[in-house]
Amino acid sequence: MAGDTDRMERLVALAKRRGFIFPSSEIYGGLNGFWDYGPLGVELKRNIKQAWWDDLVRRPPEGPDGRPIEMVGLDCSIIMNPKVWEASGHLAGFSDPMITCKECKKHFRADQVYVVRWMSAEDYEHYQERVAPYVPYITGEASVDEMSREELAEFRRLAEFDFAQRPTKYLKCVIAQSEEEALAKARLSSREKKHLGKAFPPSITPYVDYLDRPVAPEFPPPVCPHCGMAGALTDPRHFNLMFKSHAGAMKDSASEVYLRPETAQGIFVNFKNVLDTQRLKLPFGIAQIGKAFRNEINPRNYTFRSREFEQMEIEFFCHPDAAPQWYSWWRDARFQWYVRHGLTSDRLRLRDHEADELAHYAAACADVEYDFPFGVSELEGVANRTDFDLKAHQDHSGRDMTYFDEERWQQDAGQYKPEHYGGDKKAAKAAAAEAKAGPPYRFIPYVIEPSGGVDRAALAFLCEAYDEDEAPDEKGNPQQRTVLRLHPRLAPVKAAVFPLVKKDGMPEKARALYEACRREMTAFYDEKGAVGRRYRRQDEAGTPFCITVDGQTNEDGTVTVRDRDSMRQVRVPSEGVVAWLTERLGGA
Ligand code: GAP
Repeated sequence: MAGDTDRMERLVALAKRRGFIFPSSEIYGGLNGFWDYGPLGVELKRNIKQAWWDDLVRRPPEGPDGRPIEMVGLDCSIIMNPKVWEASGHLAGFSDPMITCKECKKHFRADQVYVVRWMSAEDYEHYQERVAPYVPYITGEASVDEMSREELAEFRRLAEFDFAQRPTKYLKCVIAQSEEEALAKARLSSREKKHLGKAFPPSITPYVDYLDRPVAPEFPPPVCPHCGMAGALTDPRHFNLMFKSHAGAMKDSASEVYLRPETAQGIFVNFKNVLDTQRLKLPFGIAQIGKAFRNEINPRNYTFRSREFEQMEIEFFCHPDAAPQWYSWWRDARFQWYVRHGLTSDRLRLRDHEADELAHYAAACADVEYDFPFGVSELEGVANRTDFDLKAHQDHSGRDMTYFDEERWQQDAGQYKPEHYGGDKKAAKAAAAEAKAGPPYRFIPYVIEPSGGVDRAALAFLCEAYDEDEAPDEKGNPQQRTVLRLHPRLAPVKAAVFPLVKKDGMPEKARALYEACRREMTAFYDEKGAVGRRYRRQDEAGTPFCITVDGQTNEDGTVTVRDRDSMRQVRVPSEGVVAWLTERLGGA
């Protein structure tokens, strides 16, 4: 954990130093939950988005039937009619439980606060003997009516006096994602340890579970995770995460609008527009990349939980019967996409949600997770959202969101000929109209949604790529180097060109080579400092290849090309360098 924390700190420092990520509006002290991507960061992000778009929209993969899937793109407005958010359920339910400290006024997400309690050996013994038998009565799991008179008397004595005199020595509240993280964060200082004496392993309770319990001697009131004040936390209340604004000059309730918290709803409300204008047949997908905004209570873990971020979302519409097959296919396809782009370690995981974790509208869901230095967290979710969203928009807008399966109807239409109705044309027409109005010909499609975050993907790629090893300096002495082993397709700069020294015509030749490279790929020219240092600067930026024009170039027209990962150097004819690089970068 400590190693991971250090590693994260070094990565954050590198990202700042090399121009990947800066705190937003830093000269004014920044703004919590907002980040700016610098010259290298913006290239990384664009490469991620481009790879996603190219792989899924421009050159979509083959589906389970071996044929390329049908996919189109969309770019919706960020601010939409507020009725969209009413229909989607975001106005009523897109909230987190928030608690506030009445003392320091800080806000916390109630579901991310953990209560960690330590007892001394003596208290623990006392607790086991005297208190533990009564806990079910205190928590309400057992009724006091079931107690014998002696038990009741003991219980009253205990509640009124005894254990209150021997309180838990240490209670800490920490913000964490899991019990393990809570335990790691709530360590006792050596002074506290000494004070506590021989302590038993602490108990860890999610704050929300703690809330159900009446404040009793062995459940003292939680303390504020920030200022440590006991009993100052409010009860949780729902805090809607949507950013509100006003459209137009009037600032009243009629002009209230929201910044979208997800790109998905823009796709759902345009389902019919896209279907009708593109004459698509099920199954097909609509893809969108764009900004989303969430007024997170505790933005945290660098860019992982931001208030402004980008999503890459697909809503894949299919027949309800085909949804389970498409769900499995998308789940695996999305996982493999991350593997193909460099998340090859066992830090990448695919986790199916348990039935009790599923949102009420979802038939299945899986998360592509990454073990970040701050813990395992979601990169992308893939869900079978059934027909929930289209149905909700149909109900709220009054617009038809059904799909008509023309092909199937053409196959079956013969059944509705007058001869099957004793020659009664009217009856046949009526039966056909009735049949066409519902399943299996007309229905609301099911939706499989792979929904990922660009910023989280960028962070995972950076975490996986970050490495420290050794490289020889100019004198051949091993020096520690920091290297970003980014996949070439994602690397912000593909090639850097250097003259070995600033004389003998080398800069001119290197510049010409740089210009040639730059026409085909992102390239960088550097003539400052020792060449070893220039290599290391590029290693830190994740540049896969460095090309050096040196003395031999003047003799035989070759240059050295150095590989970032192996640090091996080969000589390549100068005029063939661009083709050489293009081949190795695989069109990156
Ligand atoms: N349409 C479904 C949806 O929005 P989500 O799980 O809330 O689902 C999808 O978000 C993805 O968006 C997440 O997997 C994550 O990559 C990204 N994301 C969500 N909230 C984020 C935040 N506060 N900061 C950065 N990325 C976020």
